[in-house]
Amino acid sequence: MELETPEYIKFFISKFRELAAKDPDLPRYYKPRPYRNAAVKFRHCALNAYEDRYRLAVEQAHLNVFKFPAHKLPGCDLLSDSGTTTMTMEQWSQMLLGDEAYGSNEGYYELNAQIAETFGEKWKDSELLIFHQGRACEHALFKVLRDTLRKGEVSVEAMRKNKSGYIIPSNGHFDTTEANIKDNEFQAPNLFCGEYYRNDPDLRFKGNIHIEKLERMLAGEEGGIPLIYFTITNNTGGGQPVSMDNIRAVHKLSCKYKAPFFFDAARFAENAWFIKRYEAGFQTRTIAEIVKEMFTYVDGFHISCKKDGLVNIGGALVIMKNSLFTDNYPHFLDRLMNHQLMTEAHPTYGGLAGRDLKGLVEGFKTVVRQEYLDYRIGQVHRFGRALLRNGIPILTPIGGSAVYIDIDKFFKDVPDADSRLKGISLTGLLLIAGHRLCELGIFAFGSMKDGVETPPEPRVNFVRAAVPRLVYEDQDLSAAAEAVTVLYDNRDRIPGVKVTHGQDLTLRHFKADFEFVD
Ligand code: F0G
Repeated sequence: MELETPEYIKFFISKFRELAAKDPDLPRYYKPRPYRNAAVKFRHCALNAYEDRYRLAVEQAHLNVFKFPAHKLPGCDLLSDSGTTTMTMEQWSQMLLGDEAYGSNEGYYELNAQIAETFGEKWKDSELLIFHQGRACEHALFKVLRDTLRKGEVSVEAMRKNKSGYIIPSNGHFDTTEANIKDNEFQAPNLFCGEYYRNDPDLRFKGNIHIEKLERMLAGEEGGIPLIYFTITNNTGGGQPVSMDNIRAVHKLSCKYKAPFFFDAARFAENAWFIKRYEAGFQTRTIAEIVKEMFTYVDGFHISCKKDGLVNIGGALVIMKNSLFTDNYPHFLDRLMNHQLMTEAHPTYGGLAGRDLKGLVEGFKTVVRQEYLDYRIGQVHRFGRALLRNGIPILTPIGGSAVYIDIDKFFKDVPDADSRLKGISLTGLLLIAGHRLCELGIFAFGSMKDGVETPPEPRVNFVRAAVPRLVYEDQDLSAAAEAVTVLYDNRDRIPGVKVTHGQDLTLRHFKADFEFVD
């Protein structure tokens, strides 16, 4: 017989239930984390070594955060949420079982099965090509697409005659995606939706593409559109999610104009979490179901597995066979495989070890768990709310993977903030404090055009704090928020920065050097 719960115990259970349902009201928490630490790494650098970090930042890194030695940071390394995940014990145990055969190893078959499990049955009929990370997929995809178009290997109805070259529009291309597209002589416009420019925290899907602009482009005469690209979540546009409604609308246009539709799926699960939470009609669906629906609308996708694959390395290009894409470009897959064999390796391992594939399979299982995503996105939001509470202007609503400090507002009263690169200066000072953030604004996305420094169009000007998955506790992020606050409260004393090397280079934010100027 089952043990009955007596009334006096029921009373307390109902109280515990109430507690667990409460939102945190910092510094009070009502729910434990959905995981516990299984290993920790002590830091071997002192918080108070400020002068040492100043010297490192100036003499070694030249104020370029990419060049600062990560192991010298006692605080939060928020440079990227990519490849920085703490893996789970389940993943590590799978890694030990890795099959290191040369090609077609066990992990490859398991990954194929997991892709159908995570993204939906239709992907059983797809070509899975593994790469070492996301940008290698982009490079292969756009190079082979350019060769295909140049050789005229397109089916009759696929491509309209183009006047001014080919265009690959997006809701927001990531920087390497854009660079790969442009390097292959395509245009890469970002069609941010109208809501993106409105400062209304109730607008939940600011990552959407501007449907009317997209349709005008598809129907217009200015150029053929060989592919529509869609980044979920929209990293360049402030880590904002896209709605299912927007995905469906793009799918309709894609069918109408015979322009294939691909996802850049790096943060697919986080995007699904927003759809479940905020889009009408999805509250009773599971994350796994929502992900599957999202992926019914595309002909293919590429994914940097270093984000929602919950691994430290890996990427994949997945192309549906018998789709609009393969109809339009019948020789594409064969060309793509040639390219991959010459550059990465056999498509079944693509530069990864067999054990990496096993870890990834496990990562795809974990990432769609509701309790994982609630905690993960909740942590990013708690960090963002701590900044807001201290008056720091950030992009709202807060996205899924990062908090974006609005540099135009941060330095609103400060003259010459653009020309004195105050965003870069902010990241330089934060290195001294012990935390690493990244400028994704007028320096990263702007460029020198005919000797004139030109801001990005549409204008974006952020410093991004990307939160690694399962790495930090709220205490760490709180310390980072307080360091940003010190700088905000003294923003009129933040020095300028000048570029000493690389102002006119492509992808210059990875390579340039800077110097503080008073
Ligand atoms: N697409 C998106 C949306 C990304 O955010 C990234 C990487 C890539 C593609 C490229 O993937 O790094 O595996 O080659 N984003 C990282 C970031 C680097 O910090 O946002 P990758």
